[in-house]
Amino acid sequence: MDKLQINGGKRLNGDIPVSGAKNAALPILCAGLLTGGDLELSNVPRLHDVRTILKLLEQTGLKVTQDDERVTLNGANITSLEAPYELVKTMRASILVLGPLLARFGEAKVSLPGGCAIGSRPVDQHIKGLRQMGAEITIEGGYIYAKCAKLKGARILTDMITVTGTENLLMAATLAEGETVLENAAREPEVTDLANLLVSMGAKIEGIGTDRLVIQGVESLHGAKHAVISDRIEAATFLCAVAATGGDIVLRNTRTDIFDVALDKLREIGLQLDVGTDTIRARMDGRPHPVSFRTTEYPGFPTDMQAQFMAVNILADGSSRVTETIFENRFMHVQEMNRLGAQISTEGNTAFIKGVDRLVGAPVMATDLRASASLVIAGMAAEGTTIVDRIYHLDRGYDRMEVKLSAVGADIVRIK
Ligand code: EPU
Repeated sequence: MDKLQINGGKRLNGDIPVSGAKNAALPILCAGLLTGGDLELSNVPRLHDVRTILKLLEQTGLKVTQDDERVTLNGANITSLEAPYELVKTMRASILVLGPLLARFGEAKVSLPGGCAIGSRPVDQHIKGLRQMGAEITIEGGYIYAKCAKLKGARILTDMITVTGTENLLMAATLAEGETVLENAAREPEVTDLANLLVSMGAKIEGIGTDRLVIQGVESLHGAKHAVISDRIEAATFLCAVAATGGDIVLRNTRTDIFDVALDKLREIGLQLDVGTDTIRARMDGRPHPVSFRTTEYPGFPTDMQAQFMAVNILADGSSRVTETIFENRFMHVQEMNRLGAQISTEGNTAFIKGVDRLVGAPVMATDLRASASLVIAGMAAEGTTIVDRIYHLDRGYDRMEVKLSAVGADIVRIK
């Protein structure tokens, strides 16, 4: 298993290119199942999760042609309507094939994703919505069996805001008969990116970017070209890194209009930001100021940035409080950060952080993607050597993070 060895205390200086967004690329690749035409995608990030979803899609018979960050999909000859446990268990986003397969072929068999390190993460809302569209769904032997001659439009109000739930139902609705209204829809930029792609494939969607999506079903969708949106979470992770270590970096290929409240919080921390249309320059000197926040759905503070901000707060010149409201078990980085000398205590879903003026490197390990990223940041700010174990989590969602960070001055190497 690969590890990262980090010698901390280096300031960051230089340019970092930002990749395409993981959480936009995954649903967009699944949209390849909705058409027999060519879907020509660019800015697809080189990630383990992308490789997993492509493997799953290839098993259905979808033709995949890949040239680095360009991927062309063709779904003219789909031969299997199944997502097996072996793949779904490694990546929950595999559930995103359910809506497209059912909508286009009237049938799907998808393994029920199991528990997850950050929370229980059920998919009941995906199932509830598809049932409202007329699907017959049974769960047996760990699999979701879904059937329907033709999905029918419906008004669907999900119990909570769900990102992949919205995406699954949105894709299904594009080929349903009549009008579907998705109330309480997720407004994340990644959902918007998928909706924009679907429109370029011939879907009829109104309310894109709002919490009420109105979809008029069409007979079929055609091929399209699309560039995956830039990854706001990857970008903000690098901004947290410079906030923790100090330095002067420029993020390239970013989209500053899709940022959420995290950017304001970075300013509160003391990061000097010059925001262009597709670049962000970030400068940091001195200790960060503490920031308190609660995670919420977009455009509120993203749960996917909670751990990385914690890595900055632990070094702040004061105390802060962080409340996680989206997932019930997303504080697994806390004990690892405390091993580096941080002073964090938790009470339920709130963490109380007392900033310290130095961290000391130690071996640490993480159990999920964003927690791993936060430990890399903490290790870069700590004195001495930090070894981050189990970085396969990091490789799932960051495109060669250690290469990008080394290029701007971090002392970080991968140990095989
Ligand atoms: N939920 C249910 N039932 C459902 C669906 C969701 O109870 O049917 C609950 C979840 O358990 C959770 C909340 O609703 O408590 C929100 O979950 P959501 O469905 O929005 O999460 P997701 O779609 O499974 C996506 C991202 C996550 C990100 C969350 C929240 C993808 C592939 N994944 O997950 O990304 O944290 O939205 O923004 O888009 C990551 O990139 O590290 C990551 C975990």
